[in-house]
Amino acid sequence: MKIIANPFEVKEYLKTVPMRIGFVPTMGALHEGHLSLIKKAKEENDFVVVSIFVNPTQFLQGEDLDSYPKKDAADKKICELAGVDLLFMPNAEGMYGVDEVTLQAPNVRGYVLEGTSRPGHFSGVLQVVMKLLNIVQPTKAYFGKKDAQQLHLITLMVQNFYMSVEIVPVDTVRESDGLAMSSRNVYLSQEEHQEALKISKSLKMATQLVMQKNFVSSEIKNAMRNTLAPLEISYVEILNRNFELLQEVEIGNTIVLVEALVGRTRLLDNLWL
Ligand code: PAF
Repeated sequence: MKIIANPFEVKEYLKTVPMRIGFVPTMGALHEGHLSLIKKAKEENDFVVVSIFVNPTQFLQGEDLDSYPKKDAADKKICELAGVDLLFMPNAEGMYGVDEVTLQAPNVRGYVLEGTSRPGHFSGVLQVVMKLLNIVQPTKAYFGKKDAQQLHLITLMVQNFYMSVEIVPVDTVRESDGLAMSSRNVYLSQEEHQEALKISKSLKMATQLVMQKNFVSSEIKNAMRNTLAPLEISYVEILNRNFELLQEVEIGNTIVLVEALVGRTRLLDNLWL
């Protein structure tokens, strides 16, 4: 496995790779969720690139940029064992200049849900993903469905800017007790981990109601809120795949999204119906 830090060097190196390139952008602290993205990228491409970069522009003041879990040595091993061909590990100086052209997440879909609690977060995500995609120029890029709003906005960016990469959504991987895998799960104490299970339980509750043919969003959201109590809920929302509010669940076109605070850790999860 080749490891490169310099974006220009990556561009040069990839010129010698005339094959289908699969790309998995990450912020490191790799877990099973990332491995499932890498596995899919390997199945569908001839050459797989993973990036590890804790992108400062997507963290708000006071967020966990400085304490974000960093596990470079373990991550390198994981990538090597998973058969990654190129690991791109840039630093902030290499990725950003002093006076940059920036991207702005759209007002409606960028500043609801997670965008409300983290205004500007998605602009930072789009900016770095645009850079990463331009550096790697992959055939396909892989993103987890757990970050549904991020996935939606990146897909929109690719459409809006007529980019030629295909964005591939990948299912959420869960721990055996149902908790969605996230690099931030390491922040949870044992007790908080138990509390966090209320998030996946609330989504199970939504599934049960839909299976009982209750499609009314307000009723499903109320039942979810009851399951989540006493967690501090950032949002519970039922949207279509275009991120518009739904009064009733439409099977095949619905995402049920939840974000809650467990201790000091903000956790999100969702269900695609
Ligand atoms: O989902 C993430 O890990 C990050 O938001 C991403 C897409 C790698 C951009 O920094």
